[in-house]
Amino acid sequence: MGNTILIAEDEQVLRESMAELLAGEGFEVLQAANGKEAHQIILQRPVDLVLSDVRMPEMDGITLLGHLHQIAPQTPVIMVTAYGTIESAVGAMRGGAYDYLLKPVQFDDVLIKVRRAIEFGELSRTRRVITDQLAEGSDFHHVVGNSRSMVRLFDTVRKLSTVKSNVIVCGESGTGKELFARAIHYNGITRDKPFVAVNCGAIPDSLIESELFGYRRGAFTGAIRDKIGYFEAASGGSIFLDEISTLPIGVQSSLLRVLEEKVVVPVGDTRPRPIDVRVIAASNQDLQKMVDAGQFREDLLYRLNVVQIQLPPLRQRKEDIPLLVHHFLEKYTREMAKNVPGITNGAMRALLNHNWRGNVRELENVIERAVIFAEGRQISIEDMPFATDGLSDDVSEDLKEAMKQFERQHILFSLRQHHWDKAETARHLGIGVSSLYRKLDELEIKEDAPGEQAKG
Ligand SMILES: Nc1ncnc2c1ncn2[C@@H]1O[C@H](COP(=O)(O)OP(=O)(O)OP(=O)(O)O)[C@@H](O)[C@H]1O
Ligand SMILES: [Mg+2]
Repeated sequence: MGNTILIAEDEQVLRESMAELLAGEGFEVLQAANGKEAHQIILQRPVDLVLSDVRMPEMDGITLLGHLHQIAPQTPVIMVTAYGTIESAVGAMRGGAYDYLLKPVQFDDVLIKVRRAIEFGELSRTRRVITDQLAEGSDFHHVVGNSRSMVRLFDTVRKLSTVKSNVIVCGESGTGKELFARAIHYNGITRDKPFVAVNCGAIPDSLIESELFGYRRGAFTGAIRDKIGYFEAASGGSIFLDEISTLPIGVQSSLLRVLEEKVVVPVGDTRPRPIDVRVIAASNQDLQKMVDAGQFREDLLYRLNVVQIQLPPLRQRKEDIPLLVHHFLEKYTREMAKNVPGITNGAMRALLNHNWRGNVRELENVIERAVIFAEGRQISIEDMPFATDGLSDDVSEDLKEAMKQFERQHILFSLRQHHWDKAETARHLGIGVSSLYRKLDELEIKEDAPGEQAKG
């Protein structure tokens, strides 16, 4: 396929024989006699893989690794090391090297590791393999919430940090399923192993098995060489199977076998390969309902569902809104280097009243957009992309008054949702009908004039 490999090695004989071996396999090979030469090369052109000795004159392999991390963080590096320097190879692995080879090098070992590393590099470039702990969203503290339901979920994530159990994350679109999946991985014991995110719904049915489990050269037209699947790419870490409900029944059976036997069999192969991967699955469908309808395998659901994280929709945890607003405000003013000194009380009230069908993602978009337009001033109700129901920016800051206004807006909203059916509204608000009537009186809420009901 003409992938380019750079060999940095000061022992000329070893360097040239490895170069010959790899060139014979169709790779384009570049050679450098020390770290400094290798550094020059990677500054000038992209390479797909670096094979580097640890001890070299001018610049050693570890320093080279550091430079490469700056220049091309996605390029995998295999360190070549003698027994005497194995400590430094381990250090290099911690420093981000993909793998290492021991001297005297075995040629078939070289080929296996080189192919794997190149596959890995391709995966991390074209798909979303994140091995970097600092990847965005990996930090638990990026998950914001102070509602009771969220605090309880944070506690669950904390408890999960010492085990590798499979987890299902459920919730409507935009509630933070992927964010939680990452939090679970990056707070867990395998945080320095890969987190591989796979959107099952985005892969054509005919390709799912080969993408997940890999394939052997010749398994089908176009399979010109062996390829590892996502499960092996996630080795030791977590695989995030997003939109798991879209998996065809046949693939569900294969997946079940993988989870039960802890092996994968690449398409076109007969030999199972052991795997050690935790599955974090996500769904915005009710999987139990799908089981009842015969669309999802019950045994697979039980395998996956060791722990379930059920993310409530944002409209059921409005207490989180102010915190999320400040979180996103901080994030976007920093990212766009904008000066936006906060948000008016009225705008915050409007955000609290809205019913957020798109959940946290919708809220994030509203704030991002508002930050773009609100340069030098507070975010105001003018910045809201939805009806703000007669709110003004300078509503009272007095807590009691604020609560009253919020209550008024909330009840009004609910009444309109239920076409002014008082019994239905009271039920949804979780109060008695007589309490609702008392509130209507107290808060001076009157039924909309005909034709005005569609607002809000
Ligand atoms: N609790 C939270 N704290 C901070 N940011 C959040 C929170 N929940 C969600 N977000 C942000 O909202 C956006 C949507 O979250 P995410 O992609 O995890 O949702 P999802 O449930 O996977 O959605 P979908 O079902 O549409 O794939 C992301 O940008 C995420 O960072
Ligand atoms: Mg998602």
